[in-house]
Amino acid sequence: MSTVIKGGTVVTADLTYKADVRIEGGVIVEIGPNLAGDEVLDAAGCYVMPGGIDPHVHLEMPFMGTYSADDFESGTRAGLAGGTTMVVDFCLPDPGQSLLDALKRWDNKSTRANADYSFHMAVTWWDKQVFEEMETVVREKGINTFKHFMAYKGALMVNDDEMFASFSRCAELGALPLVHAENGDIVASMQEKLMAAGNNGPEAHAYSRPPEVEGEATNRAITIADMAGCPVYIVHTSCEQAHEAIRRARQKGMRVYGEPLIQHLLLDDSEYSNPDWDHAAARVMSPPFRNKLHQDSLWAGLQAGSLSCVATDHCSFTVQQKRYGVGDFRKIPNGTGGLEDRMPLLWSYGVNTGRLTMNEFVAVTSTNIAKILNIYPKKGAIVVGADADIVVWDPKRTKTISAKTQQSPVEYNVFEGKEVTGLPRYTLTRGYVAIEETTVKTREGHGQFVSREPFQAVNKALSTWKELVAPRKVERTGIPASGV
Ligand code: URP
Ligand code: ZN
Ligand code: ZN
Ligand code: ZN
Repeated sequence: MSTVIKGGTVVTADLTYKADVRIEGGVIVEIGPNLAGDEVLDAAGCYVMPGGIDPHVHLEMPFMGTYSADDFESGTRAGLAGGTTMVVDFCLPDPGQSLLDALKRWDNKSTRANADYSFHMAVTWWDKQVFEEMETVVREKGINTFKHFMAYKGALMVNDDEMFASFSRCAELGALPLVHAENGDIVASMQEKLMAAGNNGPEAHAYSRPPEVEGEATNRAITIADMAGCPVYIVHTSCEQAHEAIRRARQKGMRVYGEPLIQHLLLDDSEYSNPDWDHAAARVMSPPFRNKLHQDSLWAGLQAGSLSCVATDHCSFTVQQKRYGVGDFRKIPNGTGGLEDRMPLLWSYGVNTGRLTMNEFVAVTSTNIAKILNIYPKKGAIVVGADADIVVWDPKRTKTISAKTQQSPVEYNVFEGKEVTGLPRYTLTRGYVAIEETTVKTREGHGQFVSREPFQAVNKALSTWKELVAPRKVERTGIPASGV
């Protein structure tokens, strides 16, 4: 049984050309003109692109006394509806919990996934056990990325010494550290001050986490990575201060990656002044939305290549869950959704406006992260042998984003009312047509775990250079050169 995507234009991160694509057994087996197959998908007028990869989602995440509302079933269904064919979630051990025990919980949750997925492992505490289990996680569990929270004091946050120890371990293992960069100590003390002054609404969430605290933490994370001799990936880069730190480090030759979210590219901090408490609370996430100047900086970063990929940090909560924080903004569960809308929004506001080329769109939604995560070209590519995770993109299809028609069970959508032009005609997950325009044919449990090998290239290059320039003892004879 073979499927042929016929009559479309293949668009990858570096090429645009007319070709048919033939799929068998879930992988791409042939690319070229006039291909035939048992099933034909009409791609006339469409672009045939690698399916989106969202490297940052939280499905059924235990957080702030509750669980995020989308699980692996609805989350991956939402992704597929918008052209995203793979997600990467974060396995979060409780403080003191074995990384391997935590992983069992995530394995159980993900059995319902409709599309492929992988995990980042979070380092939420530190001792010898974590140090040792990191090796098993990398060598046996197919996870090559470790997340560190510099914020959420008293919960997920780790300190500089713990980060340095963990980053050094990443360097040894060929793993990549990820960082949520906000100065958690300053945020915690600003939160207390605001509350004491009676500033308890959702807008105070934004006041307590200004761009400076993100910029400082980003600089610190980059310095720690540089000292440990490993690359570093900064998640949800939301402001110029953080982007500037990343840009500067990259110009100095450091392997630093920045990930803006579609929310921060398109939504601004005026949302928090909305007189409707529910409206403002629905937009509470960390880092918070910023003003237009920061948005321009993020777009420029995508254009210049100083920022690498666009994610969602999809972490949705119902209106009821958000209301845990009435009277105390510190208790509003942090997070917003975006999985279904990331690709159509980035196309509409990026490609259709001329800010991004189609090839850049593919790079920042799929190919760059596939390379960073070491799963390229199994994912993120249209080449023979790659998984047939493909979106057949109709640049003329339009819709108005609305909670009423979305896949997520949450009652609202932070992008409500935005018009998009450019939507999937078909989304294929390993060859299976899960989406045909508005018809959803997802198969629960179809998704498979994507195992990721430790890094060879970047970590090896960094450790080779580190060894070459390491401090060395100056050998002296003890006899003064002057002979006197
Ligand atoms: O507010 C957010 N971003 N919630 C999800 C957890 C995180 O910090 O990524
Ligand atoms: Zn975060
Ligand atoms: Zn509203
Ligand atoms: Zn997150």
